[in-house]
This record gives sequence, structure tokens and C-alpha cells, in this order.
Amino acid sequence: MTVTGEAGTISALLKEERRYPPPPEFAAQANANDPAIYARAEADPEGFWAEQAARLDWFTPFQQVLEWKPPYAKWFLGGTLNATYNCVDRHAKTWRRNKAAIIWEGEPGDERVLTYGDLLREVNRAAAALKRLGVKKGDRVAIYMPMIPELPIAMLACARLGAPFTVVFGGFSPDALRERIADSAAKVAITADGGYRRGNVVGLKANVDAAISGETTIEKVLVVRRTGAPIQMQEGRDLWWHEALDAEGYPRVPCEPVDSEHPLYILYTSGTTGKPKGVLHTTAGYLVGTSATHRLIFDIKEEDVYWCTADIGWVTGHSYIVFGPMVNGATNIMYEGAPDWPDKDRFWALVEKYRITILYTAPTAIRSFMRWGTEYPARHDMSSLRLLGTVGEPINPEAWVWYWEHIGGGRCPIVDTWWQTETGQIMISPLPGLTTTVPGSATKPFPGVKAEILDEAGNPVPDNTGGNLVLSRPWPAMMRTIWGDDERYVRQYWSKYPGKYLTGDGARRDEDGNFWLLGRVDDVLNVAGHRLGTMEIESALVSHPAVAEAAVIGISHEIKGQGVAAFVTLRAGATPSDQLKEELREQVAKVISPIARPDKIFFTAELPKTRSAKIMRRLLRDIAEGRALGDTTTLTDPAVLAELKKRYEEKES
Ligand code: WTA
Repeated sequence: MTVTGEAGTISALLKEERRYPPPPEFAAQANANDPAIYARAEADPEGFWAEQAARLDWFTPFQQVLEWKPPYAKWFLGGTLNATYNCVDRHAKTWRRNKAAIIWEGEPGDERVLTYGDLLREVNRAAAALKRLGVKKGDRVAIYMPMIPELPIAMLACARLGAPFTVVFGGFSPDALRERIADSAAKVAITADGGYRRGNVVGLKANVDAAISGETTIEKVLVVRRTGAPIQMQEGRDLWWHEALDAEGYPRVPCEPVDSEHPLYILYTSGTTGKPKGVLHTTAGYLVGTSATHRLIFDIKEEDVYWCTADIGWVTGHSYIVFGPMVNGATNIMYEGAPDWPDKDRFWALVEKYRITILYTAPTAIRSFMRWGTEYPARHDMSSLRLLGTVGEPINPEAWVWYWEHIGGGRCPIVDTWWQTETGQIMISPLPGLTTTVPGSATKPFPGVKAEILDEAGNPVPDNTGGNLVLSRPWPAMMRTIWGDDERYVRQYWSKYPGKYLTGDGARRDEDGNFWLLGRVDDVLNVAGHRLGTMEIESALVSHPAVAEAAVIGISHEIKGQGVAAFVTLRAGATPSDQLKEELREQVAKVISPIARPDKIFFTAELPKTRSAKIMRRLLRDIAEGRALGDTTTLTDPAVLAELKKRYEEKES
């Protein structure tokens, strides 16, 4: 079986016979321990979500669970609340005041522990400072920071004021940051003098300076001192975070009561065409969706030490480091740096040191760990672990089984969680006390979630047949729109199958009802769990003066899952060379991010195009994967292709 979409052949059928029922001792204590939860939620999804919503603290109770005018949903209508109140204040009013909210370790080994009480104090101070800089309800704030406690503090300070924030991953370039600041029209930026990564200082402030030079909406920049690296501070615009907070003393800034549908944040993600999309998440539904999934999928208990290894710059960090866990009053581990610094056992050293009980990481990381070898985890006592999770891309069964054996010690259920920036919350995943897991399958939709697999005509496909994964019923944490672009929201997600959300992923369901994710069926790449649009990379390449045209495709990559291959035609006068290849790689790193740097670049005199001048990526993929060439009848000039294939094969051999 294969799925063929715009993107061509995605994956062959995988037969997996191994089954892992929930360990009885785990099932006996699990938060989700009654299989009837599925039937109950299915019979009354709104009732199910309303039950979850009752765990939040509301300033005004909601009157109506859902208003669904496809494709626009409103959840928990009439309610008012505040995200920060739910994540911090309400815990600080109980014994949790002295419970660790964040146990942080910097890459150099420095440590900080912030209790919920500490967090409340720091969030208040930051909110007061932001307020003094003129930030009000509805104003946008851009956050570009390393993985230090001030990052969640900044997010929670914004939410306290009702100011939607947009976190930009610290690995993004000044150009990418500029684009996101401009699109969100952010008024204040929060950054740091740098962060540590593999022993080096990553200079974030200099990137902010570049991103806001010339015309910008940014009026003030708050700078956290993390590394002490020399930076430029612009008089009247830039302020040190510690000075601004110290000037406020220990204030109490009231939590702004906001409507359930008030924007909480915008997070930019790559799409098939054009510039990155600002995915908008609102307050109540997002908090309900993330906290309910966090409680039931990660089985969070008061005494757990929970570690999600994602960077907060991605949605996983928003939903499962900050909001989900903090609504639940959990203890979070937060780590600043790289997994192989100073050595390849850093993660396992952290697990041993902090007695981590729940670990949530990505298949790409697991594949690196496999390659590094079992001696690294074997150096450490990891008996504290009781549950493992993965997210970001399909996990190969071999990596799954390695994770089970060498990290989980054969005792920890694994939750393979499928979701997206747009879904806000996990949508397909085992419930660890109930679900028999299968290596490589994300298993079943979460209670109340309706997922279907459709063919091109919109009909459900039979078992074990690939098709387009859609979500056929609204869910609380769903994106509400693309910031400032309702039309694109409708076109991108809701026009192929009216009333149903198009995920862009291919999937199949097996005879046991388990879902198998088959990867993207559009022009989105998933490189080491990071989403990149082929268009974005092509634009970056074409911005180099030597390049006339570029076509980018994904190729299989042992560690990253997908790598980036670029086919490039040059302008007259430019000559192909290894040096030019290197320049083009750097160009992509500079314009987007080092994550997007092409693994392979091929110079070609022409690109294969259809008669309507569309580049035939499918054929390029066939070439790159060494497959026989598919249908070439719509090509303007089939000879272009034969030549390309020959040259590619020469290079490869
Ligand atoms: C992929 C990350 C298979 C998928 C939370 C999706 C997965 C895209 C899984 C979203 C999984 C994520 N199994 N594929 N468990 N989790 N994906 O927006 O292609 O960065 O559409 O959100 O990652 O990536 P995003």
C-alpha cells in the first residue's frame, strides 16, 4: 500500500505484530483507567469537554460549551478566565505554593528551582515591567529567548495582562524573526544576551537588533542577562530585564479577566505556500485541551517529575511544558542545552539526578541515542522513569522498541502522540493505562476526537488503505484562524472537505482501529521533527544572486527522518562549484535557520516542469530516492529528466 498525494509516494505498508498491553501495575494506578471513557465521550463530546473545563478556575462560568459555525468554533462561550491565574496563582494559594514548578538546569550545569510561589512573584514583576512599557490587553509581544526560566515567565506575564505573545524559536534567523514581528505587529520584544548551545553562546540580542533595524513595530526591547556576552544596548529602546523588574519591587498585578475566546498566542508554522502562517490559539479551549490531554495521556500525578525535552519555541513546549503541565500544577524539568553536551549521556544524567518519572521526547532524538549506543543510558540509574512519550514524526518500530528497552527498562508504557501546531493539543495517542500499544502506531483518537481517513472524493477508505487524515469534529484547543488571514485559514484547512479539518498528513487505519501516520502529503517537510515549507527554502535559495530557480524536496535521512535536497538552476554567468554549494547552504541557514540547511544540492540546467509550468517535485523525489521514473507524460521536455537522473546518479555513485 502507498499513499500518493501532491507529494508523491509516502510510505509502504508496515506489518507490525508486536503488542504491548498496559503493564498491570501501571493500569492499576492510571488517571484514565475506565475504558468507558471512549464511549462516554463519543456519546456526548461536548459533555466530556465541559467536564474537563470544570477543572479550570473561571472568573465567570461559561454558558454554552460550543458554537460551531464551520469552520469557526467558539468554545466555552460567556466564560471569563485568565491563563496565568490557572497556571500559577491558583496553585500558589494552596500547599503547591512551595512545590517546584520548574526545575531548571543550564547547559553549563547551573541550576535553579522555582516553586509556584516563586513563579507567581516573578510573573508579577515581569507583568508590572511590561505594563510600564505600555503593554495592554490585546497588544502583541514577541519573545525570542533561550530555554531559561524567564521564557515561561515572559509568556505567563503576557497572558496575565491579556497580551497575546508570539514565541519565535531561538534558532530562527533575523529575517525569520523580522517577518514574524511584522506579521503580528508586536510592540515589545523580549530576548536575552544569549543562550548556551554545545558550549557556545548563541547571540540572540544581535539577531533582534538586525530584525528590528529600519522600519519596525517594536518600541521596546527587554533583555535578560544570561551569558554576560557583550551586546549593544540602544538607549531609550533597550532595557535590562533585571533592572526593569527590580524597579518594580514585588508588585501584585491583577490577572486581566479575558473572554474564553481571547487570543492567548500566535505561533508561526510552515505551510505549503508562501510565508509562515500565524496559528492563533485562544484561551479557554486551549487550556482545557492541553490540560486534559496532559492529565490523561501523561498520567500526571502530584509527585511526578515530568520532562518534555522540546524547545518552548515550538508548539510542544507551549502545550506540554508551559500550559498543560502548569494548569495541572505539575513539576517540570527544563533544560537549556544540547543532549550531547558535555557528553552523550546528558539526558540520562538528568533523569538520574532529578529522578525524572515521565519523559516526552522526539523520534529524531531517539534515533540519535540509538546510534550513540546503549552504553550512555546504561551509565545511569533510570529506575525512576515510569512513562515515556514521543512526538513530532512517525516513530520507526525499531526506535520504539529501543526506547522501550533501553530507556524504559521494559517497564514504561510509551505514548506516541500525534498532533500539530494547529491542533494545539494531542489528538491521537494511547491512554497508557488502557491502550495496548503497537510500535509505530499512534493508536487511537483521544476521547471526544473524531478522526477519519478519506480518499480524494471524500469517502472513508477501507482498513489498511492510505488516505488523507481529517478531523471531523471541533475540539477545544483547535486553532481559531490564521492571524490576519481568515481566507487562507478556510482555503488551507477547510476547503478540500467542507466542514472537516484537513491535517495534511496521510494515514491508514488497521483492522484493530489503530492509526498509522504516513507523513505529510503536501509540500511540507519534517526535518528532525521541525516543520519546513519547501517553498520557504526555495525562496531562500533564489534570494542568492547566482540562483535562477530552485526546487526543494525531502529525502530519507537516517537520523533526521527527512533531509533537504535542492535542485538548483543558475543564472547566466554563474558557474557550479562546491564553493557555491556551500554558499547556498549558508544562504538558507541565514535566511531561515540552520535547521533548513540543504543536505544535498544539485545543479541542473533545467527543472522538469509540467506544461502549466509547475515543477514536478514527484519526479525529483523519484530521482532522489533512486526509483524508476513515474508518469512523465505531462512534462514539457522529458529529456530534461533523463539528463537530471543521469547526473544525480553519477553524483551519488
Ligand atoms: C508530524 C508538532 C507521526 C505530522 C506537535 C504533523 C507526527 C506534524 C507525530 C506537525 C506522530 C507530529 N506521528 N507524525 N506522533 N507528531 N507528527 O506542527 O506530520 O510542528 O502534521 O507539531 O508533525 O508538526 P508541528
